[in-house]
Amino acid sequence: MVHEHPETLRRDKALRQHWLNGVPMHWMTDWQLPTPLILREASGSTLVDVDGRSYADFCLGDTGAMFGHSPPAVAAALQHQAAHGLTCMLPTEQTARVGELLAERFALPFWQITQTATDANRAVLRWARAITGRQLILVFDGCYHGSLEDTLVRLEQGRVVTRPGQIGQVADFASHARVVEFNDVTALEAALADNAVACLLAEPVMTNAGMVLPEPGFWNQVRELCSRHGTLLAIDETHTLSSGPRGHAQRLGLQADFLIAGKAIAGGMPTAVYGFTADLARRMERVLETKPSGHSGMGTTLSANALATAALVACLQDVMTDAAYAHMLSLSATLAEGLRKRISNRALPWHVTSVGARSELVFTPTPARTARQSLAAASPELERLLHLYLLNRGVLVTPFHNMMLVSPATTDAQVQSLLDHFDEFLHELS
Ligand SMILES: Cc1ncc(COP(=O)(O)O)c(C=O)c1O
Repeated sequence: MVHEHPETLRRDKALRQHWLNGVPMHWMTDWQLPTPLILREASGSTLVDVDGRSYADFCLGDTGAMFGHSPPAVAAALQHQAAHGLTCMLPTEQTARVGELLAERFALPFWQITQTATDANRAVLRWARAITGRQLILVFDGCYHGSLEDTLVRLEQGRVVTRPGQIGQVADFASHARVVEFNDVTALEAALADNAVACLLAEPVMTNAGMVLPEPGFWNQVRELCSRHGTLLAIDETHTLSSGPRGHAQRLGLQADFLIAGKAIAGGMPTAVYGFTADLARRMERVLETKPSGHSGMGTTLSANALATAALVACLQDVMTDAAYAHMLSLSATLAEGLRKRISNRALPWHVTSVGARSELVFTPTPARTARQSLAAASPELERLLHLYLLNRGVLVTPFHNMMLVSPATTDAQVQSLLDHFDEFLHELS
């Protein structure tokens, strides 16, 4: 309610003086509010805006803050490291430890660090193309792996096209990509049959077109097909780190060739990692030895900086604990059950998809098999109404769809408050 935000309105005016659309990053208007929320503080699972109003945060920076805002161990590590060097383009005495922690957790022996998950995915695709000597990549329709042009493609009446909405794009990435529907093994088999695809990049559960779960046995078949056709399998766990302490692939018993994790992996610091097998490490070394001199097209000067390294150690060691996950998973189950109960009490043709600490309210009676079905089920007007309704009552959910994420800091009371307001929403809607 605008009149309850005088300070926000004042600051919004100031923001509009020097920021495009009044925000430092244009996605920040995706909440479609009269003005964006302008924050004074983010701590644990709570946001406080400049008017002093609090919000239970179930968006958590769309996963970047999945382990809560400023987890104390990460904040302490950053504070310490800040006085001992921020960035040097060199390993620090903690870098070996990060490698150990990643290898132990994700069962892959070799790793690299980038600034963002977008960048990690970009590097993985480049390595995969260089290693295999193949140019094509394959993604599932409706995927999102960051603002990485190679993957901003989709299936349109059986043809691969670049996704609409991109600004200033010149290269035709669609001609270097194949796209199939998630859960469609037959289409995947056909797309890999000519042994021309370097890499399949995929989330183990699709989380960016609503949530689309793999059908039983799907990933076993995908793994087998990739191995048979020499296509490297890159699993992007950036969002599905919410599934459990070791991500989602290990829950499925799925062995990735590359594994990518960003956003929350360093407790909210801009950092991402990608891991790979020993065999790939050898092949990557060969690429480095034999390539012409010059820039590889991967990485940035700030990647793997000392501050990010310190945050990685703290997050992997002291924040992503089994106890933290036990809390997240159990409270998220309570949330999902509570939403389901309220939907069923009113006999609404909706459902809740939930995996680990992530739940998604969907306005159809049954789960989608593909992203296309999932996107067709979206109801932007109703979503916006629900998001605004909750926001005006001190609850924030993700603006893109109806995703609700539970952090180790989220409380029973916050979940109860979301459920109560959801109930009131349904009452008023009916
Ligand atoms: C699965 C997945 N991978 C990668 C990314 C890119 O992350 P970033 O925007 O931090 O680069 C996203 C962003 O939402 C994502 O959902």
